[in-house]
Parts: sequence; structure tokens; C-alpha cells
Amino acid sequence: MKNKYLVTSALPYVNNVLHIGHLVGCLLPSDIYARFCRARGRDVLFICGADEHGTPNEIGALKEGMPTLAYVDKYRAMHEQSVKDFNLSFDLYGRTHTELHEKLVQSLFTRLDDAGLIEERISSQPYSVDDKMFLADRFIEGTCPKCGFASARGHQCEDGCGALLDACDLINPRSVISGSENIEMRETKHLYLKLSAMQDRLREWIDSRVGWPKTATSIANKWLAEGLHDTPITRDLSWGIPVNKPGYEDKVFYVWFDAPWGYVSISQAARPDDWQTWWKTGNDCHYAQFMGKDNVSFHAVIFPAQELAVDNNWKMVDVLKAVNFMNFEGAKISKSTGNGIFLEDAIKDAPADAWRYALISSAPETDDTDFTVQRFADIVNKDLNGMLGNFVSRVCKLCEKNFGNKVPPFKKGFETPIDAMNGHLAALAAALDACEFRKAVEALRSMWAIANEYMSEKAPWTLVKDGDPSSPGGCAEARMEQAGAILNECFQMIDFFARISAPFIPAASEKMRQIFPAAKLDLSWPEKYEWRVEDGTEFIVPENLFERIDDEKIAEMTGKYVKK
Ligand code: 2FM
Ligand code: ZN
Repeated sequence: MKNKYLVTSALPYVNNVLHIGHLVGCLLPSDIYARFCRARGRDVLFICGADEHGTPNEIGALKEGMPTLAYVDKYRAMHEQSVKDFNLSFDLYGRTHTELHEKLVQSLFTRLDDAGLIEERISSQPYSVDDKMFLADRFIEGTCPKCGFASARGHQCEDGCGALLDACDLINPRSVISGSENIEMRETKHLYLKLSAMQDRLREWIDSRVGWPKTATSIANKWLAEGLHDTPITRDLSWGIPVNKPGYEDKVFYVWFDAPWGYVSISQAARPDDWQTWWKTGNDCHYAQFMGKDNVSFHAVIFPAQELAVDNNWKMVDVLKAVNFMNFEGAKISKSTGNGIFLEDAIKDAPADAWRYALISSAPETDDTDFTVQRFADIVNKDLNGMLGNFVSRVCKLCEKNFGNKVPPFKKGFETPIDAMNGHLAALAAALDACEFRKAVEALRSMWAIANEYMSEKAPWTLVKDGDPSSPGGCAEARMEQAGAILNECFQMIDFFARISAPFIPAASEKMRQIFPAAKLDLSWPEKYEWRVEDGTEFIVPENLFERIDDEKIAEMTGKYVKK
């Protein structure tokens, strides 16, 4: 088993605040996976950060009337706050507008150029006469030539069929800056990456991938079947990484040429001394990437093709986890319509764990899904509050009342649901290793359910009632002992749950761990159910782990977030 694990989450553009779609799409699954790997003792490097270049950010700045740098700084700071609020455990949440990143990208470009993989071509590009500039990527919109979607962007039919486009093929093009349709084709020169030369090597690499989701392999195979096309990697813009080649002083690299290398430059910033042990040591590392489905072609085809082309022993992705889209209350999440839950607001309504658990339970892993306030409340109330929270609270309170604040003695040979727990534990670990998060949540929930069933079935409260010396009937002592042994088992389950729930709900897990303040119990991943809480261990009754979301709160949140 490899011990080095590299985990990256797609770098969000800083053109708006983050919403629950970003959280469920890559930030949260990658965090759960990274936490799981760390808990198993793996040597994890977990990276994300702001994708600061590209036209999405430039257009956002234009709309808010701010200089681009000030604009990306503003949103990056807000994203960083959300990363903290939601307990996302990146080794570094970095950025791509850094000297380190610029140097890396420029040096890779030189390497590609030296290898003969860069070619200068003169091409006709849309030029807005009214705006006096070439309209790169999202600066131009029009009807998609492939599916007829009316608002396709110059580079991709993002909200329609998803195809990557050539801006010259758009029907009825218009400038996003001024809305002007006074657009003519003018000649300009650009640098092209000769992807066609990479066809065979990429085919060989794709064929060697195992365990990729169907979406990823089918996208990669489609590209290969069509034949890789040489692709322009420069743009007539001023915001971005300057092209380090004479004659290109007024151009920058295309954002998708630089952004994936952000995974590397942010790793360099996070671990200046040993980043190479994840990125450059042959195959001795396992690399998992997390992203939304709109990012797949870049991660499954273009970035790997670049890595192969640079021919410099770069670590390439092993597991590519791509999720579908999450809608909210039947409509697209959108800052402009206001429909959706944005992270800066969400954290004021409920703690991070509630969101983390409810969202990952609803992850759009196989299809697009719809999230609703009612669903959020149902999951929090039923699973977190009703199953886990109540179990923990009942055990601690019943024990304190009848035995004081020390864990009563264990009784050997006592009937416990350990085999069932171990079965689900194996399923949970396998699902997390395979990055199948809904399956993982099912296994986790099954274990919480077993604990509740155990408690109801054994009903220790009836034993302590009968065990009360003042109650009639004999064997009071034996029944008290039995009640104590049941509660002992329940405390073992609390410790077990703290460990296996930690990747999903880290704050609640920490509270569970602190139920035993003096015991040195860590949150490492158990390979099997264990009895670690010793007889007589001191415990405290914690505050409620979760709060119910009541009807009043549901109505308030619905009013605030549902805007269709
Ligand atoms: O879709 C996005 O938000 C892109 N900024 C993702 C980039 S991922 C990586 F390659 F940087
Ligand atoms: Zn389309």
C-alpha cells in the first residue's frame, strides 16, 4: 500500500462567493477523503486555492467596477473565510497569482517550446470594434453551433451542451463588455500547444487508468476518438501570466494552461522542502483529484497531456472524482438570481458539521441532484440529532445519574453487535477509499442505527430501575452490573463513532472525544471495532452535539434562500 497521498480540489475562480454547490462538488469530498487518509496514517498533501487568472475573474471585476487584482483579493479572502468556517483541512489554501506560480508556468512553457511542441499561428479572432479589443473566451457570447444554446461562451458551451468551442464559430456573437454586435474577425498571432503530437502517449496512459468514473473515461475516449487538436494557449488579454517569448509581450497564457499547475505551485508554497516527494517520485504516490463534471476534460485530457509533453516525471492523477451538479429547490444555484445557499450565510444558520453531513449525504455522484431546505432539516433532525446526538446524550446522562461520572466496568462474554459493526466498518473504509461518499454515509448511518437498536433492545434504564435497592425483587446488584456493562459497551461505541465520523463531522467528533477528558484517546482510524475506554474512565456529559432544525427555522431559511 502506498503511503504518500496527494489530494487536490479544483481551484475555484474568485469571481463570486462560494455556495453549497462548490462545497459538495469538490471541497467537501476532497476534505473527507484527505481526513480519512490522514486518520489511517497516510502521508497526505492536501491542496486547493484560488484560480485567480482567466476571464471569469476579469469579467467579475469589470461588473463590480474594481481593478482585477483588488477584486480577486476581495473574493479570495471571502473564500478563505469559508474554508475556515467549514473546517476544510487543506495543508494550504493558496492562489495562482504568485511569483512562484508564474515562474513554474513560464519554465514549463520554455520546456515545451524547446521540445518543439509549441507553434506560432496566425488566426482570425473576434475583435470588438466598439470595445477596441479582441474578445477572448468569456468576453464573447453567442449561440452554440453544436446545440443551439443561446448564451454559449466563446470558449465553451458551459450552460448548454458543455462542448469546448472556437469563438469564431459562435452564431450571432456579441461582446460581454458592451453588448455590441459590431464584431469583426481580425488577424492576430497565437501560440499553439501541439496536442496532436501527444495522441499516442495519452491513449496509452488513458488505457492504463483503472477505477475512473465513467464520465471521466468517456470524455477522455471521446476526445481521443476525435483526435487531439492543437490548441491555442495564449490570449490577447492583460490579466494573467505574461507569455515569456519575444513578440508576445502584450499577451498572457490561457487560464487553463496555467491553472492546473496551481496544484504544483501551491504544493511548492505549502511544502518548500519536500513537495517533490509527492509530485516527482515515480509512482510512489497516490494522486486523487476532485472536481465538478464541467472540469473533467481539462483534468482527464489537457492537463495530463501537458504533463506528458513536459516529459519531466510529473505525478499524474490516479483517481479522478468528478461529481454532477447540485440544484437548489428545483432551480440552478445562481448568485444573480439569488437562488441558492451561499457559504457566508449558511454558516450563520447551522454549524459546519450539519452542512457537511447533509450535503455529502446528498452528493450528486451519479446524477444531478436537487437539495432543499426541507431535506437539509430532515437529515440533520433524523440522522445527526435523532440518531447520533440522542444516543450519545442518553448514554452519558443515564450513566451519570445511576453510576456517577466514571465508566462502569466491562463484562466479558457479554452479547454485543460487534460483527455487524465490523461489517459496516469495512464497507465504510472501502467506500471512502473508492471515493463513493453516499455509500460511505450509508455505512456510517447503519452503525449509528445499530447503537440505537442496541440501547433500545438492552434497555439499561429498566435494569437500573429494577436495580434500585429500594425497589422490590432480588438480584438488584446483578442487574445494576448488567446495566453498567451495557453502558460500558455504549461508551466504547461513542469512542468508535468519534473516530469513524471524524472525516465527515470533525467538530462533533472532537466533542465526542472530549467526553473522556483525561483519557488519551486519539481519532485515528480503527481497522476493527476496539474497546479502548477503560473501566473507571472519567466522562462528562457533553452539551447537545446537534440542534434540531424546527419548522420556524425551515420557514426562515426558505424565505431567505429560495428565489426562483
Ligand atoms: O471551474 C473552475 O472554477 C476552475 N477555476 C477550476 C480550475 S481547477 C484547476 F485546474 F485549477
Ligand atoms: Zn452547446
